[in-house]
Amino acid sequence: MAEERITLSVIKADVGGYVGHSSIHPALIDTAKERLSTAKEKGLIVDFHVLRCGDDLELIMTHKKGVDNSDIHELAWNTFVAATEVAKELKLYGAGQDLLSDAFSGNVKGMGPGVAEMEFVERKSEPVIVFMADKTSPGAWNLPLFRIFADPFNTAGLVIDPSMHGGFSFEVLDAKEGKTITLSCPEEMYDLLVLIGSPDRYMIRAVYRKSDNEIGAVASTQRLSYIAGKYVGKDDPVLIVRCQAGMPAVGEVLEGFSFPHLVEGWMRGSHQGPLMPVPFYEANPSRFDGPPRVIAAGFQLAQGRLVGPHDMFDDPSFDEVRRQANIVAEYMRRHGPFQPHRLPLEEMEYTTLPQVMERLKGRFKED
Ligand code: 13P
Ligand code: 13P
Ligand code: MG
Ligand code: MG
Repeated sequence: MAEERITLSVIKADVGGYVGHSSIHPALIDTAKERLSTAKEKGLIVDFHVLRCGDDLELIMTHKKGVDNSDIHELAWNTFVAATEVAKELKLYGAGQDLLSDAFSGNVKGMGPGVAEMEFVERKSEPVIVFMADKTSPGAWNLPLFRIFADPFNTAGLVIDPSMHGGFSFEVLDAKEGKTITLSCPEEMYDLLVLIGSPDRYMIRAVYRKSDNEIGAVASTQRLSYIAGKYVGKDDPVLIVRCQAGMPAVGEVLEGFSFPHLVEGWMRGSHQGPLMPVPFYEANPSRFDGPPRVIAAGFQLAQGRLVGPHDMFDDPSFDEVRRQANIVAEYMRRHGPFQPHRLPLEEMEYTTLPQVMERLKGRFKED
């Protein structure tokens, strides 16, 4: 039997928050499920799940059309447009927030939604984890992805599994210049860290196993601020990671989130705060619209069928991470409008702050 390739597409958008930016109204999820089940009946997609993290609507789909397929992107776009109609009726907050264009033109990239897609031949068993975050931005994945695929203190398999021992290569996007570079670990680890330690500009887009170039992870790297030129909501990101059998084990992948590192995107997209790993039902960021959250949906793929989701952070072994995140959140909050809680000025140039600065312009005198 010929090996059949399957594509896993995760496409997301904030099309209206309930209440404010904290969560999603169930009617939006119902609308998305209706749309995708019709597409499944028609044979356009093999399977799907609709989830949400905070105010972000997450479409998880499998199909046989490959990445960047216009039919799949159009399905996602039309689903978001339909959900936006419902959001408008209910006057939900920021209805259609992430849809930056009026008409679909073949690919949702650059139009507002976040996209992570990978195509592969299903292994004998294919465990995957889809991570979805709210109140942050794509660079938030840099630290956990580095730990999962390059740090032997996180991932024992890098040391003891012969099929991973050669390491992984990292494709990194320079979001400002629109260029990518691929760096190989462990040899170029320090070069990699020079870049990805600045996650506001350099973002890991994909990770490949070096021994056979098999894809291990792919992240959404859209940055709405660069797309729109003004503040239009933060680009809350998604990430797909394949696990086990020559890839990091499920537990090694989750271990990458055992430290609540600081990420940008909290309150008005303008503050730093700790990324808190939570179960699905706790992904309702409310304190100061945060702190930032991440959920992890585990699936076993079976001929494209998404067996799951299993709520991977619904585990008391993450309780202390959450507690630490709360302590760090409180510590950061005490800085109020001061950096490093508030983002540096250059990072805020797409917010409403420049308008405030404009008013003060004429009052600066030569020193
Ligand atoms: P099992 O022996 O339960 O399959 O676990 C293997 C493993 O590597 C877990 O990290
Ligand atoms: P979202 O990007 O999740 O819509 O959040 C906007 C915001 O800044 C809330 O404070
Ligand atoms: Mg929102
Ligand atoms: Mg959001």
